[in-house]
Amino acid sequence: MNINKIQNLKNQAISSILEAEDKKELERLRIQYLGRKGEITKLIKELPELEVEKRKEIGGLLNDVKKAIEDALEQTQAKLQRIPPEDKEWSDITVPGEKIPQGHLHLISQAIKEISVVFEKIGFIRVSYPEVEWEWFAFEALNMPEDHPARDDFESFFVDQKPHSKYGRMVITPHTSSGQIREMQRTEPPIRMINIGRCGRPNYDATHTPTFHQFEGLVIDRGINVTHLKGVFDYFAKNFFGPKRKIRLRPFHFQFTEPSFEVDVNCPLCLGKGCKVCKGGWHELGGSGMVHPLVLESGGIDPRKYSGFAFGWGVERNYLMKSGLNLDDIRPLYEPDLRFINQF
Ligand code: DAH
Repeated sequence: MNINKIQNLKNQAISSILEAEDKKELERLRIQYLGRKGEITKLIKELPELEVEKRKEIGGLLNDVKKAIEDALEQTQAKLQRIPPEDKEWSDITVPGEKIPQGHLHLISQAIKEISVVFEKIGFIRVSYPEVEWEWFAFEALNMPEDHPARDDFESFFVDQKPHSKYGRMVITPHTSSGQIREMQRTEPPIRMINIGRCGRPNYDATHTPTFHQFEGLVIDRGINVTHLKGVFDYFAKNFFGPKRKIRLRPFHFQFTEPSFEVDVNCPLCLGKGCKVCKGGWHELGGSGMVHPLVLESGGIDPRKYSGFAFGWGVERNYLMKSGLNLDDIRPLYEPDLRFINQF
């Protein structure tokens, strides 16, 4: 019996026992070395054949080896008990949770929700009107005559080639202003409408998409004047953009309002002084004005009794300005690229 061979056997036994991956394998190894016909057992049985001196030496060694193998078996057994078997239920509250994928509202739906809440707080009623509209509601009734440039084929998406009703052709609503006429015909003053809708125009570049959204406000009552318009816009600027924001009006021209204004909001960084980002201190929100008497008449409202103001602003534009998102290109808002969409 060779001492080196016994040492090798010991090393081999211990390393395979420590690497055993399940209890079955561990039991197989126990039998292989310490079982009735196991390799170590066999050597122990052969001891009486040795001379007395050798028997003492080898006997002591084999005892140590047996003990070391038993220790390794015990140690591995304990380790395997701590690892939960895969097919059984287990719980460990310290394991980090798994994130379940969850959808969310698209950026534009979030914007529409936020804008509605701001206006609803001061009594505006949220409405929706057709996305495909008669020419009469979209243009004629808004004092935009037949030769108005917006009524060219390349400025609006006409659905029909030729008029087929007294309201003319059908057109994909190019702005939410047609909702003014629909609202005046549907109800009586006092009117406080916020019409948020999808619009379409044949434009496609970094800052224009063929589909976009507008929110249109209309207030009609006795004695409504420009101070009401300004008060509502200031309220909107403070509640939507933040308490330090305010608006200014610039004279402009629209067919359906008189007087008409472009509305600007002060820059969030310099608050209107002018800085590197905004240049002039102000950002444009959109158009507005006092409802033209001819438009009130189209809606069946007597302009001698009632007056009102209106505004129509872009949802995308206003929301991007609010969130501080500086998109060089707004087209991804309408594309199914989840790497972009999932960020919001
Ligand atoms: N409809 C206009 C557009 O799409 C925006 C607008 C301007 C709406 C003035 C209004 C308004 O109600 O008063 O460009």
